[in-house]
Amino acid sequence: MALEPFEVLYEADNPTAYKLPADLHHLYGALGFATRVVYSNFVASVDGVVTLGSKPSAGTIISGKYPADRFLMGLLRACADAVVIGAGTLRATPGHLWTPGHVYPDLATEFIALRSALGRTREPQLIVVTASGEIDASHPAIVKGALVLTTAEGARAIGSRLPKSCEVVAIGTGKHLDPGKAIAHLRDRRLNVLLTEGGPHLIGQLIEGGLLDEAFLTISPVIAGRKDDDKRLGMVEGVELLPNHGAWSGLSSVRRHGDYLFLRYRTPAPAGRA
Ligand SMILES: NC(=O)c1ccc[n+]([C@@H]2O[C@H](COP(=O)([O-])OP(=O)(O)OC[C@H]3O[C@@H](n4cnc5c(N)ncnc54)[C@H](OP(=O)(O)O)[C@@H]3O)[C@@H](O)[C@H]2O)c1
Repeated sequence: MALEPFEVLYEADNPTAYKLPADLHHLYGALGFATRVVYSNFVASVDGVVTLGSKPSAGTIISGKYPADRFLMGLLRACADAVVIGAGTLRATPGHLWTPGHVYPDLATEFIALRSALGRTREPQLIVVTASGEIDASHPAIVKGALVLTTAEGARAIGSRLPKSCEVVAIGTGKHLDPGKAIAHLRDRRLNVLLTEGGPHLIGQLIEGGLLDEAFLTISPVIAGRKDDDKRLGMVEGVELLPNHGAWSGLSSVRRHGDYLFLRYRTPAPAGRA
C-alpha cells in the first residue's frame, strides 16, 4: 500500500529547503540543510529507550519497522554527503547498509534523483568511528566500502584485515579520537553535509563538543521498559550534560504519521545555554 503523506503539525521557517523530487515532497513536505551541517536521526520509545541491551537492530525493533520512519531514514540519508556511525552501531546491526535505498527501496530511484540534483555522489559515503579497531571485515557495509576513522593504535589493530573497498585513517593517538578533528577531516574531504545515526556514545561526544547542529527524533508509540540488569540506553550515553551543561534545543518541526511523532530540533552547543 502506498505511504500516506506526513501531517505537518508545526514547521519553523526553513530558508535552506531543497527542491525535492515531487514524490518525496508530496510525502514529507519541505526539507533542506545548511551547506555545512551535522544532523542526527534516532528512533526512541515513549519511555526514551533507543537500545535494547545486547539485542541486535534495536532501532528496527523500536520503530516496529514502521514504513514512514524507514522512509524518513532514507530521505535523511539521501540528503547527506556521508553517514557517520560508531563501531558499536555497526556491530549491533548485522546485514545493514547505510544507504537510502536499503532502508526504503520503494523510493530508491527518487533518492538517487535527489542526490543527483544536489550534486551528491550516487550513495552517501559510510564513515565508521572506532578506537579498538574491532570491525567485522565481512559485514556487508564494510564489504561495500567505508572510511574508517580511528587512532594510530586502532589502525595498527586493524592492520590489513579490511577489504580494499575500505580506507583506514588514523587521526591522533590514544584511546579515543577527537570528534572535532574527525569532523574537520571529513570537511577536508568535502564531506560537508553529515548525517549521524549514532549510536548513543558517539552522539554524546558530538553534542558535548558542540558539533551537532540538528537532531531528528522519531517517537515510536511503544513503551520498551528497562530491567536493572539489562542496559537500555537513551539517545545520549557517556556524557553528563544537565544540570550544568544541558543542550537546550530549538524546535524546528513536528510531523505526525499515524501514532508516530517526528521531531526536528536545532541543537546548539551546550555552552551556548549553560
Ligand atoms: N534507536 C536508534 O535510533 C539507534 C540508532 C543507532 C544505534 N542504536 C543502537 O545503539 C547501540 C549501540 O550504541 P553504542 O552507544 O554502544 O554505540 P556507538 O556510539 O555506535 O559506538 C560506540 C563505539 O564507537 C567508537 N567510538 C565512539 N566514539 C569514539 C571516539 N571518539 N574515538 C574512537 N572511537 C569511538 C568506539 O568503538 P570501538 O568499541 O570499536 O572502539 C565505541 O565503542 C546498538 O544497540 C544500536 O542498535 C539505536
